[in-house]
Amino acid sequence: IKNIAVLTSGGDAPGMNAAIRAVVRTGIYHGINMFGVMQGYQGLITNNIKPMDARSVSNILHLGGTILKTARCLEFKTDEGQEIAYRNLKANNIDGLVVIGGDGTFTGAKRFGEKYGVKVIGIPGTIDNDLSGSDFTLGYDTAINTVIEAIDKIRDTADAHDRLFFIEVMGRDSGCIALRSSIASGAEAVLLPEVETSVNELIEKLALGAATKKSSSIVIVAEGHKQGGAYDIAKKVKETFDHYDTKVTILGHLQRGGSPSSFDRILGSRLGFAAVNALIAGESAQMVGLRGNDIKLTSIEEALSNHSFKLEDDLMEMTDVLSI
Ligand code: F6P
Repeated sequence: IKNIAVLTSGGDAPGMNAAIRAVVRTGIYHGINMFGVMQGYQGLITNNIKPMDARSVSNILHLGGTILKTARCLEFKTDEGQEIAYRNLKANNIDGLVVIGGDGTFTGAKRFGEKYGVKVIGIPGTIDNDLSGSDFTLGYDTAINTVIEAIDKIRDTADAHDRLFFIEVMGRDSGCIALRSSIASGAEAVLLPEVETSVNELIEKLALGAATKKSSSIVIVAEGHKQGGAYDIAKKVKETFDHYDTKVTILGHLQRGGSPSSFDRILGSRLGFAAVNALIAGESAQMVGLRGNDIKLTSIEEALSNHSFKLEDDLMEMTDVLSI
Protein backbone atom coordinates (compact mmCIF):
# COMPACT_ATOMS: atom_id res chain seq x y z
CA ILE A 1 0.00 0.00 0.00
CA LYS A 2 1.48 3.35 -1.00
CA ASN A 3 -1.05 6.12 -0.51
CA ILE A 4 -3.60 6.27 2.33
CA ALA A 5 -6.28 8.92 2.86
CA VAL A 6 -8.12 9.60 6.11
CA LEU A 7 -11.44 11.37 6.63
CA THR A 8 -13.90 12.15 9.42
CA SER A 9 -17.61 12.04 8.67
CA GLY A 10 -20.96 12.46 10.46
CA GLY A 11 -21.16 14.02 13.92
CA ASP A 12 -17.76 14.98 15.30
CA ALA A 13 -16.52 13.31 18.49
CA PRO A 14 -13.72 14.23 20.91
CA GLY A 15 -10.72 12.03 20.16
CA MET A 16 -11.08 12.22 16.38
CA ASN A 17 -7.98 14.42 16.19
CA ALA A 18 -6.00 11.91 18.25
CA ALA A 19 -7.03 9.22 15.75
CA ILE A 20 -6.14 11.39 12.71
CA ARG A 21 -2.72 12.08 14.22
CA ALA A 22 -2.10 8.38 14.84
CA VAL A 23 -3.22 7.41 11.33
CA VAL A 24 -0.98 10.02 9.66
CA ARG A 25 2.08 9.30 11.78
CA THR A 26 1.77 5.51 11.60
CA GLY A 27 1.53 5.73 7.81
CA ILE A 28 4.50 8.07 7.52
CA TYR A 29 6.52 5.87 9.87
CA HIS A 30 5.99 3.03 7.39
CA GLY A 31 6.94 5.17 4.38
CA ILE A 32 3.36 5.59 3.11
CA ASN A 33 2.18 8.87 1.53
CA MET A 34 -0.63 10.24 3.66
CA PHE A 35 -3.59 12.41 2.63
CA GLY A 36 -6.39 14.14 4.51
CA VAL A 37 -9.84 14.44 2.94
CA MET A 38 -11.66 17.60 4.04
CA GLN A 39 -15.34 17.56 5.15
CA GLY A 40 -15.80 13.81 5.05
CA TYR A 41 -17.21 12.23 1.90
CA GLN A 42 -17.98 15.72 0.60
CA GLY A 43 -14.24 16.28 0.15
CA LEU A 44 -13.94 13.09 -1.89
CA ILE A 45 -16.58 14.45 -4.26
CA THR A 46 -15.10 17.97 -4.48
CA ASN A 47 -11.53 16.59 -4.60
CA ASN A 48 -10.60 18.47 -1.45
CA ILE A 49 -7.77 16.08 -0.65
CA LYS A 50 -4.51 17.36 0.86
CA PRO A 51 -1.13 15.71 1.45
CA MET A 52 -0.28 15.42 5.13
CA ASP A 53 3.04 15.06 6.89
CA ALA A 54 4.02 14.42 10.50
CA ARG A 55 3.85 18.17 11.24
CA SER A 56 0.32 18.53 9.78
CA VAL A 57 -0.91 16.77 12.91
CA SER A 58 1.26 18.53 15.50
CA ASN A 59 -0.50 19.89 18.60
CA ILE A 60 -3.94 18.51 17.83
CA LEU A 61 -4.04 15.54 20.22
CA HIS A 62 -5.79 17.57 22.91
CA LEU A 63 -8.33 19.30 20.67
CA GLY A 64 -12.01 18.47 20.28
CA GLY A 65 -13.69 18.67 16.87
CA THR A 66 -11.74 17.49 13.83
CA ILE A 67 -9.03 19.32 11.89
CA LEU A 68 -10.30 17.59 8.74
CA LYS A 69 -13.82 19.01 9.31
CA THR A 70 -16.85 16.81 8.92
CA ALA A 71 -20.21 16.71 7.17
CA ARG A 72 -23.27 14.56 6.69
CA CYS A 73 -22.98 14.22 2.90
CA LEU A 74 -26.22 13.37 1.08
CA GLU A 75 -24.56 13.30 -2.35
CA PHE A 76 -22.35 10.38 -1.34
CA LYS A 77 -25.52 8.31 -0.89
CA THR A 78 -26.16 8.53 -4.63
CA ASP A 79 -24.52 6.41 -7.36
CA GLU A 80 -23.33 9.56 -9.13
CA GLY A 81 -21.73 10.94 -5.95
CA GLN A 82 -19.88 7.68 -5.28
CA GLU A 83 -18.70 7.52 -8.89
CA ILE A 84 -17.16 11.02 -8.68
CA ALA A 85 -15.61 10.18 -5.31
CA TYR A 86 -14.04 7.04 -6.75
CA ARG A 87 -12.64 8.91 -9.75
CA ASN A 88 -11.02 11.45 -7.42
CA LEU A 89 -9.51 8.69 -5.27
CA LYS A 90 -8.04 7.11 -8.41
CA ALA A 91 -6.75 10.46 -9.69
CA ASN A 92 -4.85 10.87 -6.40
CA ASN A 93 -3.60 7.24 -6.56
CA ILE A 94 -5.11 6.52 -3.17
CA ASP A 95 -5.18 2.80 -2.48
CA GLY A 96 -6.35 2.77 1.13
CA LEU A 97 -8.96 4.76 3.04
CA VAL A 98 -9.47 5.22 6.78
CA VAL A 99 -12.92 6.53 7.70
CA ILE A 100 -13.62 7.83 11.20
CA GLY A 101 -17.28 8.14 12.15
CA GLY A 102 -20.48 6.39 13.16
CA ASP A 103 -23.09 4.24 11.47
CA GLY A 104 -23.80 6.66 8.57
CA THR A 105 -20.09 6.84 7.81
CA PHE A 106 -19.76 3.06 7.90
CA THR A 107 -22.83 2.51 5.72
CA GLY A 108 -21.25 4.77 3.06
CA ALA A 109 -17.88 3.04 3.42
CA LYS A 110 -19.38 -0.43 3.07
CA ARG A 111 -21.17 0.38 -0.18
CA PHE A 112 -18.19 2.28 -1.59
CA GLY A 113 -15.78 -0.55 -0.74
CA GLU A 114 -18.03 -3.25 -2.19
CA LYS A 115 -18.80 -1.35 -5.38
CA TYR A 116 -15.30 -0.19 -6.29
CA GLY A 117 -13.04 -2.56 -4.39
CA VAL A 118 -11.60 0.31 -2.34
CA LYS A 119 -9.65 -0.93 0.69
CA VAL A 120 -11.29 0.72 3.66
CA ILE A 121 -10.87 0.49 7.43
CA GLY A 122 -13.32 2.14 9.85
CA ILE A 123 -12.60 3.76 13.19
CA PRO A 124 -15.69 4.01 15.44
CA GLY A 125 -15.95 7.73 16.23
CA THR A 126 -19.28 8.75 17.74
CA ILE A 127 -20.39 9.90 21.17
CA ASP A 128 -23.41 7.56 20.89
CA ASN A 129 -21.51 4.27 21.44
CA ASP A 130 -23.95 2.56 19.10
CA LEU A 131 -21.68 0.28 17.06
CA SER A 132 -21.07 -3.40 17.66
CA GLY A 133 -17.52 -4.69 17.93
CA SER A 134 -16.18 -1.90 20.14
CA ASP A 135 -17.08 -1.67 23.81
CA PHE A 136 -16.39 2.06 23.61
CA THR A 137 -16.57 4.35 20.59
CA LEU A 138 -14.34 7.39 20.34
CA GLY A 139 -15.82 10.42 22.11
CA TYR A 140 -18.26 8.49 24.28
CA ASP A 141 -16.15 8.78 27.44
CA THR A 142 -15.54 12.51 26.98
CA ALA A 143 -19.23 13.13 26.30
CA ILE A 144 -20.16 11.39 29.56
CA ASN A 145 -17.60 13.48 31.45
CA THR A 146 -19.09 16.63 29.92
CA VAL A 147 -22.60 15.53 30.86
CA ILE A 148 -21.75 14.79 34.47
CA GLU A 149 -19.87 18.06 34.86
CA ALA A 150 -23.03 19.85 33.72
CA ILE A 151 -25.31 17.75 35.93
CA ASP A 152 -23.10 18.36 38.97
CA LYS A 153 -23.72 22.08 38.47
CA ILE A 154 -27.44 21.57 37.99
CA ARG A 155 -27.50 19.47 41.16
CA ASP A 156 -26.19 22.44 43.16
CA THR A 157 -29.00 24.71 42.06
CA ALA A 158 -31.62 21.93 42.12
CA ASP A 159 -30.73 21.23 45.73
CA ALA A 160 -30.67 24.91 46.70
CA HIS A 161 -34.23 25.36 45.41
CA ASP A 162 -35.61 21.87 46.18
CA ARG A 163 -36.39 21.38 42.49
CA LEU A 164 -36.96 18.50 40.08
CA PHE A 165 -34.88 18.68 36.89
CA PHE A 166 -35.38 16.77 33.66
CA ILE A 167 -32.11 16.71 31.73
CA GLU A 168 -32.05 15.56 28.13
CA VAL A 169 -28.86 13.97 26.81
CA MET A 170 -27.80 12.92 23.30
CA GLY A 171 -27.29 9.43 21.93
CA ARG A 172 -29.79 9.20 19.09
CA ASP A 173 -31.40 5.71 19.54
CA SER A 174 -28.84 4.63 22.11
CA GLY A 175 -29.23 5.06 25.87
CA CYS A 176 -25.51 4.55 26.58
CA ILE A 177 -24.70 8.17 27.46
CA ALA A 178 -27.86 8.43 29.57
CA LEU A 179 -27.20 5.24 31.53
CA ARG A 180 -23.55 5.94 32.37
CA SER A 181 -24.30 9.58 33.19
CA SER A 182 -27.08 8.55 35.52
CA ILE A 183 -24.74 6.31 37.53
CA ALA A 184 -21.93 8.87 37.59
CA SER A 185 -24.16 11.80 38.56
CA GLY A 186 -26.38 9.96 41.03
CA ALA A 187 -29.56 10.73 39.08
CA GLU A 188 -32.83 9.67 40.69
CA ALA A 189 -34.11 8.12 37.45
CA VAL A 190 -33.11 7.56 33.84
CA LEU A 191 -35.35 7.07 30.81
CA LEU A 192 -33.77 5.01 28.05
CA PRO A 193 -34.83 4.29 24.46
CA GLU A 194 -34.16 0.60 25.03
CA VAL A 195 -36.42 0.24 28.08
CA GLU A 196 -40.11 0.97 28.43
CA THR A 197 -40.76 3.11 31.48
CA SER A 198 -44.26 4.50 31.97
CA VAL A 199 -44.80 8.00 33.31
CA ASN A 200 -46.68 6.40 36.22
CA GLU A 201 -43.68 4.27 37.15
CA LEU A 202 -41.50 7.36 37.05
CA ILE A 203 -43.93 9.30 39.24
CA GLU A 204 -44.03 6.44 41.76
CA LYS A 205 -40.25 6.56 41.97
CA LEU A 206 -40.15 10.32 42.40
CA ALA A 207 -42.95 10.20 44.98
CA LEU A 208 -41.03 7.61 46.98
CA GLY A 209 -37.99 9.89 46.94
CA ALA A 210 -40.10 12.82 48.09
CA ALA A 211 -41.63 10.69 50.87
CA THR A 212 -38.15 9.69 52.04
CA LYS A 213 -37.08 13.35 52.20
CA LYS A 214 -35.19 13.79 48.93
CA SER A 215 -34.88 17.53 48.61
CA SER A 216 -34.17 17.57 44.89
CA SER A 217 -34.38 15.08 42.06
CA ILE A 218 -32.72 14.66 38.71
CA VAL A 219 -34.20 12.62 35.88
CA ILE A 220 -32.04 11.95 32.82
CA VAL A 221 -33.97 11.55 29.58
CA ALA A 222 -32.20 10.01 26.58
CA GLU A 223 -33.14 11.96 23.45
CA GLY A 224 -34.34 8.77 21.77
CA HIS A 225 -36.81 7.89 24.54
CA LYS A 226 -40.01 6.57 22.98
CA GLN A 227 -42.40 8.77 24.99
CA GLY A 228 -40.78 12.03 24.00
CA GLY A 229 -38.04 14.39 25.07
CA ALA A 230 -37.42 16.02 28.43
CA TYR A 231 -40.05 18.75 27.89
CA ASP A 232 -42.75 16.18 27.04
CA ILE A 233 -41.94 13.98 30.02
CA ALA A 234 -41.74 16.94 32.40
CA LYS A 235 -45.17 18.12 31.24
CA LYS A 236 -46.74 14.69 31.72
CA VAL A 237 -45.21 14.27 35.19
CA LYS A 238 -46.30 17.73 36.27
CA GLU A 239 -49.93 16.97 35.44
CA THR A 240 -50.22 14.58 38.38
CA PHE A 241 -47.10 15.10 40.49
CA ASP A 242 -46.44 18.60 41.71
CA HIS A 243 -44.34 18.01 44.79
CA TYR A 244 -41.38 19.84 43.29
CA ASP A 245 -40.94 22.97 41.22
CA THR A 246 -39.92 21.49 37.84
CA LYS A 247 -37.27 22.62 35.35
CA VAL A 248 -35.91 21.24 32.07
CA THR A 249 -32.39 21.43 30.62
CA ILE A 250 -31.43 20.16 27.16
CA LEU A 251 -27.66 19.69 27.13
CA GLY A 252 -27.47 19.58 23.31
CA HIS A 253 -24.30 20.03 21.31
CA LEU A 254 -22.04 20.96 24.20
CA GLN A 255 -21.86 17.17 24.64
CA ARG A 256 -19.99 16.89 21.35
CA GLY A 257 -17.23 19.39 22.05
CA GLY A 258 -14.31 19.82 24.41
CA SER A 259 -10.88 18.43 24.95
CA PRO A 260 -10.88 14.61 24.83
CA SER A 261 -10.42 12.68 28.07
CA SER A 262 -7.22 10.66 28.55
CA PHE A 263 -9.30 7.59 27.71
CA ASP A 264 -10.36 9.01 24.33
CA ARG A 265 -6.86 10.29 23.52
CA ILE A 266 -5.41 6.85 24.13
CA LEU A 267 -8.28 5.06 22.38
CA GLY A 268 -7.98 7.37 19.35
CA SER A 269 -4.23 6.76 19.21
CA ARG A 270 -4.65 2.99 19.47
CA LEU A 271 -7.41 2.84 16.86
CA GLY A 272 -5.55 5.08 14.40
CA PHE A 273 -2.38 3.03 14.78
CA ALA A 274 -4.32 -0.24 14.35
CA ALA A 275 -6.25 1.03 11.31
CA VAL A 276 -3.09 1.72 9.31
CA ASN A 277 -1.49 -1.53 10.42
CA ALA A 278 -4.65 -3.36 9.27
CA LEU A 279 -4.39 -1.75 5.80
CA ILE A 280 -0.70 -2.69 5.62
CA ALA A 281 -1.64 -6.27 6.53
CA GLY A 282 -4.06 -6.30 3.57
CA GLU A 283 -7.28 -6.05 5.59
CA SER A 284 -10.34 -4.28 4.20
CA ALA A 285 -14.01 -3.66 5.07
CA GLN A 286 -13.11 -4.00 8.75
CA MET A 287 -13.58 -1.77 11.77
CA VAL A 288 -10.92 -1.52 14.45
CA GLY A 289 -12.48 -1.56 17.90
CA LEU A 290 -11.78 -2.00 21.60
CA ARG A 291 -12.90 -5.27 23.14
CA GLY A 292 -11.89 -5.74 26.73
CA ASN A 293 -8.50 -4.09 26.65
CA ASP A 294 -7.58 -5.39 23.20
CA ILE A 295 -7.90 -3.81 19.79
CA LYS A 296 -9.76 -6.22 17.50
CA LEU A 297 -11.13 -6.23 13.97
CA THR A 298 -14.84 -6.63 13.27
CA SER A 299 -16.30 -6.57 9.77
CA ILE A 300 -17.99 -3.26 9.00
CA GLU A 301 -21.07 -5.26 8.10
CA GLU A 302 -21.22 -6.79 11.58
CA ALA A 303 -20.48 -3.46 13.27
CA LEU A 304 -23.54 -2.07 11.50
CA SER A 305 -25.95 -4.98 11.44
CA ASN A 306 -25.71 -6.08 15.00
CA HIS A 307 -26.90 -3.01 16.89
CA SER A 308 -26.75 -5.00 20.07
CA PHE A 309 -28.09 -3.86 23.39
CA LYS A 310 -24.94 -2.29 24.80
CA LEU A 311 -26.29 -1.29 28.18
CA GLU A 312 -24.42 -3.10 30.94
CA ASP A 313 -26.71 -5.31 33.08
CA ASP A 314 -25.12 -4.34 36.38
CA LEU A 315 -25.46 -0.62 35.59
CA MET A 316 -29.12 -1.15 34.73
CA GLU A 317 -29.72 -2.84 38.05
CA MET A 318 -27.77 -0.18 39.93
CA THR A 319 -29.89 2.69 38.61
CA ASP A 320 -32.74 1.44 40.77
CA VAL A 321 -30.71 0.32 43.77
CA LEU A 322 -28.40 3.31 44.21
CA SER A 323 -31.02 5.98 43.64
CA ILE A 324 -33.32 5.12 46.58
O1 F6P B 1 -24.46 10.92 16.40
C1 F6P B 1 -24.01 11.93 17.27
C2 F6P B 1 -25.13 12.90 17.58
O2 F6P B 1 -24.61 13.90 18.42
C3 F6P B 1 -26.38 12.27 18.19
O3 F6P B 1 -26.24 12.00 19.57
C4 F6P B 1 -27.42 13.32 17.88
O4 F6P B 1 -28.71 12.74 17.82
C5 F6P B 1 -26.98 13.83 16.52
O5 F6P B 1 -25.59 13.50 16.41
C6 F6P B 1 -27.16 15.29 16.29
O6 F6P B 1 -26.79 15.56 14.98
P1 F6P B 1 -26.52 17.04 14.40
O7 F6P B 1 -25.25 17.55 15.01
O8 F6P B 1 -26.41 16.83 12.95
O9 F6P B 1 -27.70 17.86 14.83
